[in-house]
Amino acid sequence: MTKELPAHAVIRPLNVNDLAQVLALEQEAFDEGKRATEEKLKYRLKTCPELCFGVFITSYESVVELRRQEKRQLRQAAKLKKQRQLQNSLNGELPTDNDDDEDDDDYNNGNYDDTDDEESTANSSTSDLNSRNGSSYAAMSAFGRGSGFANRMKNIPLPPGKSTIRSERLVGHFIATKTLSFRVTDSAMQVPELDSYGRKLPTSFNEPLGHAEAGRTICLHSLAITQEYRGKNIASILLKECLERFATQSMADRVALLSKDDLVPFYARLGFVDNGLSESKFGNVSWRDLSCSLTNYNDEEDM
Ligand SMILES: CC(C)(COP(=O)(O)OP(=O)(O)OC[C@H]1O[C@@H](n2cnc3c(N)ncnc32)[C@H](O)[C@@H]1OP(=O)(O)O)[C@@H](O)C(=O)NCCC(=O)NCCS
Repeated sequence: MTKELPAHAVIRPLNVNDLAQVLALEQEAFDEGKRATEEKLKYRLKTCPELCFGVFITSYESVVELRRQEKRQLRQAAKLKKQRQLQNSLNGELPTDNDDDEDDDDYNNGNYDDTDDEESTANSSTSDLNSRNGSSYAAMSAFGRGSGFANRMKNIPLPPGKSTIRSERLVGHFIATKTLSFRVTDSAMQVPELDSYGRKLPTSFNEPLGHAEAGRTICLHSLAITQEYRGKNIASILLKECLERFATQSMADRVALLSKDDLVPFYARLGFVDNGLSESKFGNVSWRDLSCSLTNYNDEEDM
């Protein structure tokens, strides 16, 4: 079994902007009544995104196309400069130190005619390209104004000025909160009453509902992989990655979860111990309390 994620798969923290994909995966992976509601998922992603991670299959913009756009911009900039120099000489003006800066301004403002550029496309306006790709010429004007630096940097291509990620498809998630308890309790699974700013209101319960920032136990509420990607070791890699991050950052002392009987061996392989039957009756089924210590977790892994 592979120890690596599939090509173009990345693990990154989740946030509330990922809610739609997280909800869809939760609904695919768990039966109704045994899965988190939209309200719970939203609460968790908003309250403690640092405890929630997703495996995404990413697709990227074509680097070839980005380079082509950049070259196009450089050609247009050179053309503009020549036109200006020609105009200046026709007017009998000598070139000044400010010529490059003016060119930069014109270029950034899109004040040039590119209609005879055979490669120009309808959806590639100059300002659009500048903001999306941070071309060499546009970028250098921001740094080199009036210094001659712009001139020297003119032919050095810069990397794209924005992320080249085109889309991210969520194929696995790890959703957690923290609790003051040592295990996953029904209280930890709840959404507390919140005020209009999303702050937790005090409750009359002994144990706080939902996420407890001061807790030293991370409750794993949901580990799910989309059907198509199961059996490829993704859940194991995701879980291990989360345990390592939490341990390295000293975020808690342990990770606890509720497991069905058949998954106990799977979690045991990743360092979880079986603490017996849980008191939780979530989904009207019986669960086992599992936990994995984060103290010395990385040391044990190194051995
Ligand atoms: C459980 C789950 C997260 C595993 O994801 P995965 O990426 O396929 O897991 P991995 O490839 O890392 O490991 C696969 C191992 O998981 C175990 N496993 C997965 N599903 C299992 C099941 N229903 N019963 C018993 N073992 C199971 C097996 O040991 C399997 O090893 P094998 O392929 O050698 O048989 C995934 O099947 C899933 O999303 N299931 C539905 C949601 C769920 O039950 N989550 C767990 C909450 S307690």
